[in-house]
This record gives sequence, C-alpha cells and structure tokens, in this order.
Amino acid sequence: MLAEPFNWQPSMWKMLIVVMCVALLGCLQAQELQEHVSIILLGATGDLAKKYLWQGLFQLYLDEAGRGHSFSFHGAALTAPKQGQELMAKALESLSCPKDMAPSHCAEEKDQFLQLSRYHQLKTAEDYQALNKDIEAQLQHAGLREAGRIFYFSVPPFAYADIARNINSSCRPGPGAWLRVVLEKPFGHDHFSAQQLATELGSFFQEEEMYRVDHYLGKQAVAQILPFRDQNRKALDSLWNRHHVERVEIIMKETVDAEGRTSFYEEYGVIRDVLQNHLTEVLTLVAMELPLNVSSAEAVLRHKLQVFQALRGLQRGSAVVGQYQSYSEQVRRELQKPDSFHSLTPTFAAVLVHIDNLRWEGVPFILMSGKALDERVGYARILFKNQACCVQSEKHWAAAQSQCLPRQLIFHIGHGDLGSPAVLVSRNLFRPSLPSSWKEMEGPPGLHLFGSPLSDYYAYSPVQERDAHSVLLSHIFHGRKDSFITTENLLASWSFWTPLLESLAHKAPRLYPGGAENGRLLDFEFSSGRLFFSQQQPEQLVPGPGPAPMPSDFQVLRAKYRESPLVSAWSEELISKLANDIEATAVRAVRRFGQFHLALSGGSSPVALFQQLATAHYGFPWAHTHLWLVDERCVPLSDPESNFQGLQAHLLQHVRVPYYNIHPMPVHLQQRLCAEEDQGAQIYAREISALVANSSFDLVLLGMGADGHTASLFPQSPTGLDGEQLVVLTTSPSQPHRRMSLSLPLINRAKKVAVLVMGRMKREITALVSRVGYEPKKWPISGVLPHSGQLVWYMDYDAFLA
Ligand code: BG6
Repeated sequence: MLAEPFNWQPSMWKMLIVVMCVALLGCLQAQELQEHVSIILLGATGDLAKKYLWQGLFQLYLDEAGRGHSFSFHGAALTAPKQGQELMAKALESLSCPKDMAPSHCAEEKDQFLQLSRYHQLKTAEDYQALNKDIEAQLQHAGLREAGRIFYFSVPPFAYADIARNINSSCRPGPGAWLRVVLEKPFGHDHFSAQQLATELGSFFQEEEMYRVDHYLGKQAVAQILPFRDQNRKALDSLWNRHHVERVEIIMKETVDAEGRTSFYEEYGVIRDVLQNHLTEVLTLVAMELPLNVSSAEAVLRHKLQVFQALRGLQRGSAVVGQYQSYSEQVRRELQKPDSFHSLTPTFAAVLVHIDNLRWEGVPFILMSGKALDERVGYARILFKNQACCVQSEKHWAAAQSQCLPRQLIFHIGHGDLGSPAVLVSRNLFRPSLPSSWKEMEGPPGLHLFGSPLSDYYAYSPVQERDAHSVLLSHIFHGRKDSFITTENLLASWSFWTPLLESLAHKAPRLYPGGAENGRLLDFEFSSGRLFFSQQQPEQLVPGPGPAPMPSDFQVLRAKYRESPLVSAWSEELISKLANDIEATAVRAVRRFGQFHLALSGGSSPVALFQQLATAHYGFPWAHTHLWLVDERCVPLSDPESNFQGLQAHLLQHVRVPYYNIHPMPVHLQQRLCAEEDQGAQIYAREISALVANSSFDLVLLGMGADGHTASLFPQSPTGLDGEQLVVLTTSPSQPHRRMSLSLPLINRAKKVAVLVMGRMKREITALVSRVGYEPKKWPISGVLPHSGQLVWYMDYDAFLA
C-alpha cells in the first residue's frame, strides 16, 4: 500500500517539483531564495523513529515547508531496500496532524510528506556515495540551492564511528551549505569512554556540526525554565538563592520496568540512563547564573559549565540505590545468565547534590529516578523557605496572601495527576508572566499537588502540547544549539558522576517489589551531606550462605599498635570517632590555652574526616582554632593538586575559621615554586615558632603511605628525619616531586599525633610497620614518637584486618 510512493518514478519527481514549486511561490512572495534541506534518518525503522522521529519530521515539514525551504526525507537502515521500504512505510502509517487541522488538509499534507520520503539501504561506503549522488541529482533536477543536510543517528553508539566516517568522506554537502549530525544517547558509559567517543566523533565532525540530543531539553516545561527565569527576573532575583530556597527536587518516576531492554539497561542502570543526563541538565538550568541573553547558546553553555565546576564531589553516602525485585530474573531470561546470577544494576537512585557557590551553598538538590515505581511523573520543584508566622487563624488564610502557606515553584515536566506539562507558582509567591504560547490552566476539581490544592497555584500549560523530539528537530533545523549537549558539557557531567558510579559498582541495591507495593521502602532522608533510606534494611539483598556482617556487628576495636593506642573500626565509624576525638582535644585546648593549633595532612584519607568535621561538629571551636599544613606540594595554592585546596574544598569553606588563623605553607613565593633561595620553609618555621608555644602543636594529623612515608618525608630523605630544621623541602618519588613538609623533630614535639590509615592498599605496610623498630630512614613513619605527647593510630578494618 504505502510502499509505492517510495518507488522514485517520473510521476513522483513531478509531484516533488509541484510541491517544491508551491513552496517556492510562498518563498518568492516572501522575497527569499528557495533553499533545500535533506534530512537523513539513520535507523529509520527502529523504535525511536517509529515512536517519535517520523512524527517529528512530519511536524517540521508542516511548520517549515513553504517558508522558504523545501525538504526531502531519506529514511535509512541496514535492511535491504525492499524490506526496508516496507518497514519504513509501516513506521509512517501512524503520522498524525495537529488537532485543529481539517481531515482533508491533513490527508493532503501526509500525502505530500510521503512523496518526499524514501528509503535507502546504507551499509557500505558505496551506499553512502549513492545517497550523496541521489541528493545532488535531486537538487540539480529541481534547480534548488542546497541549504544543508541533517543526519539523524537513531542507531546504537557502536555504529557511530562507521557512519561518521562515511558521512565525512562522501556525504558532506557542497560549499556554503551546512551539515548537522544529530546523536542520541548513550554518549559513553563513564568519563573515559565518553572522552574516547567524543575524540572519535571529533575527528569527523566540527563541534558546531554535532547536535547531541537530551530529549528532556525538548520537553516544554524544561525548555521553559530559562525563559521563565528570564521573564520573571524581577520577582525571582531576590528569591533564587540559599537564603530563600529550602531545597530543590528533580524527579523522574516511571511505572514501566526495564523488561525487553535489559541488554542496554544492565550496562547502564538508572544513574547513567537518567540522572547523568536528563536530571543533571534540569539541575543546571535551575541552578545556573542567568545569562543576560538566555537564548545565546554560548552564554548558556558557559553558565552551565560554571555550575558543574561548583558541584561538590559525590561520596558513596550521597546516594541510595534500589532494584525492583523481578529485575535479576528478567536479566537472566533475556541475557541467558545462569540461575545463580544476581545483578547489582540499580533501577532506582536518589542522590543528594550540593552546589558550593554563594547562591546555593547549603541548599540540597535531590535527584531521584526509578523504574517500577507507583506513578509516572517528572518535575523540578523549588520549595521556598517559610519564615513567616501568621497571627490570624488558619481559616482566614487566603492563598494569594498568606505567607504561611507552602511557597513553591514547579516545572511540571509531564504525566502525574496533572497529565500535562505545566508551570505552577504558589499564589503567595508572585503572579508569573509566561509567553503567549502558555495559557492559564484548570485541572480536575479537587486536585491536590505537592501538598496544596491546584487552586493555590497560578497554573499554566502550553497552548499546544508538543513532543520533545519534535521541538528539538525544529531547533536543529534552525541551528539553535542551546538545547543540545556540547562535548564540554558532556564531559563535565561525566566527571561529576563517574566517581559515584565507581564507588557504587559493588554496592548491593535495596530490592523493592515494584508499584504501589513499594510502600515506604524507598523513602529516604538526608542530613549532614548524606542521604539514606528512612527504613532499616529489611532483609539481606543478595542471598548467600549465612547473613552478611553489617558494620554495626563490629565494635570499635581498641588495642595497641607499635605500643601505642590503636582505634580500629569500619571506615565511617572510624572517621566519626576520630572527628569526635579531635573536637574533644580542641575543646580542651581552647578551655586551657584559649587556642587550638591543629596541623593537617592532605591526600585522600582525610577528606572524609574534613567533611565530617564540616557537617557534623557544630560545637567545634573553629573561631579559636589555628589550621596548619603538615605538608604541601610545590604547586600554586589554587591548584587542585594542592593540599591546601583539598582543605579549602572540604573543610574551610564550610566552617568559620578566622582567616588570620589559617596558615597555608608558603610554597609559592616570588612567582616561583619552592625555590631554596626564597626560604619558604624557614618562613613557615618562623611563623610556627612565633605563634605556637614551644612549637608544640596541640594535634598533628598524619597519614601513612604504602612505602612507609608520612607527611612529605619519604624513605631515604636527606632532610627532615632528624636535625634542627622544623620545616624542610623534600622530594617525592611521585609527582609533583617537590614538597614542603614539617620535619620529624617538629612533629615529635606535638602534644598529640593521630595517624589515620585507611583502605586495603595499606594492608601490607600496616603489617610490615607493626613489626619494625625505629628506622625512619627506611620507613619515616617509624620515626613518629612524640617526646612527651601521645601517639594514637586510627586504622580502618580494611587496612588493619590483614
Ligand atoms: C530515556 C531513558 O532516556 O528516557 C528511558 O533511556 C526512560 O529509560 C525515558 O524511560 C523516559 O523518557 P520520557 O520522555 O518517557 O519521560
């Protein structure tokens, strides 16, 4: 039936020319030159094409044909021509017209669209050459000037490179015409693979030629975030910040599960599938500094990247993950896995994100998504703080005036009880202004949303609902790059998510039954920078022989190590114990001497400690604490490698230490790094002598390297292991090589020294050092023996239970 139009016969050419002429006429009237755009849809018979892309192309045709452009549509796939043509005809059967279009007009338009659409098998280099010839012949025949070509890759990423190579070598349009290639996710699996894919694509296409789709950016409510913020600047300017926003929720709940897609899903899981892209994009639109021109792609990108830079790194404790119960069974069935196979892929995740900038510091951003949940809904909800007290009784509260009612702004992406995209603004916030393409809406009577009746909101919905892909196709056609993911944007997002993904790789997700039966099982809470399930783990997740030990099954172990006290526990508990001990030492020191001198190490082990001190120690006497560095790398203090940077990022920016009490090591003097003649080590030593009584720190926090080093005192170091010098320049075997370090004699003057040792990597050295005597030349850590102070070892079970 429908296959016929694709036989490119003379009559069809005539039709094409007639269609083009009609369009040309319109164009001439508008005094513009008729230009032709060829759109090649790769994967033309696939699911996405069937569900959204052909319909989107048809909409594009309806919107744009006759406005100075003519079109041809080339469906392509690997399938042989006859069968491909049939499949494509099937995909095109269900095209629909806007509701307000008369049926006869609709039939006409559909017919014309079909005339302009044809199928190509694209398998070999020759096939691409033939396609190119075809397009050129068509242009020549109809006497059209080529505006450009759009290649839409609706194919799996493993096919990208081949297709890209072929397009680049034989399907580029002639001079003066543009090429736009449209790519669908997944764009990699982590930062490394995304980088590889980006480099590969970058060798075939210019950045401006690539349009990476995140279809959430085409959702009307998402696309409205920046214009809304722009149009309501006056009302939002004073509200859009940490003083007024209580929290932001960015949510995408689904009722469907992953059945039929487990080969994809098993490799990706919900964080890669949804949070890394859709929800992160929404987050950046909500959080970014508003550009002056919100439709400038360049400004939007720049502001997005600033958000990425300000995102606080995620820890394992920043997320909870779940998996619906039948998932593993589906994977076993679809991927032919053995009965013993249990997947660890999360199908549900909630993540607590913090943005460390002046606007958002301290405001929780919750990102959450899951399959097999009780409802399908998506939204970004900005909940404002409520600092008002209303004196009149509640029955006198009026929605538009009462400051005591909830105040929120919701970009309702779709589905849910509302059933459509919407923007909701609590009436007690402000009356928003929206473009004329949005209208005030009325929902079903009695509808409650986010704790308030719909009547408590100014509620708007689009005059005409449009599918995301159709919106994006229009943007691609108009070269609007602001709604697409650039390489920089993509890599910034992966840099943010990859460490969390790695840390969760072996974590067993909480199993949930799915749908309404989930009850409160997946409810979560957050505090002190961590997010956790509200209910205790109800049962063991992955069946195994006997119950798996939980951290709470172990007590904090107290013993001796090298004849000094040893505290050992699972890492979280250990950090919490160490933080408590430091606080107690600080409080005692301040009570006795009015100040507390604390020298801190850098590296990765103390990060969790810094975070713990920053978020859970409100009684810490920061105002009377002096912070010193145990060692430093010879890099500028602003360098991410600098120990001071780590301290700044994880501790200093969250607490209130007077700036004159902060003592970074002077590694950068006279615009050079650690030059002997600049005497940085001597300067630091003088500062210590001047401020710290007897140069005796109240507490020195050290680590232990896998080679037995401590501070930046490495085995065989010619300086710092003995002698008079308090601070020395040293050399590290690993980069950056040049270091500044407190010397052992200075460390040993301390009133207390705590050595923190964590992780499996430290097992060997922990075992070895437990046996050796005083041999600082071989193992500098063995030289840590405070003269009159106390030494305490803090080791987690991973490091200690060898
Ligand atoms: C896709 C994910 O990107 O988005 C799917 O791969 C998910 O897993 C889908 O179901 C949700 O999109 P929408 O438009 O239905 O909200």
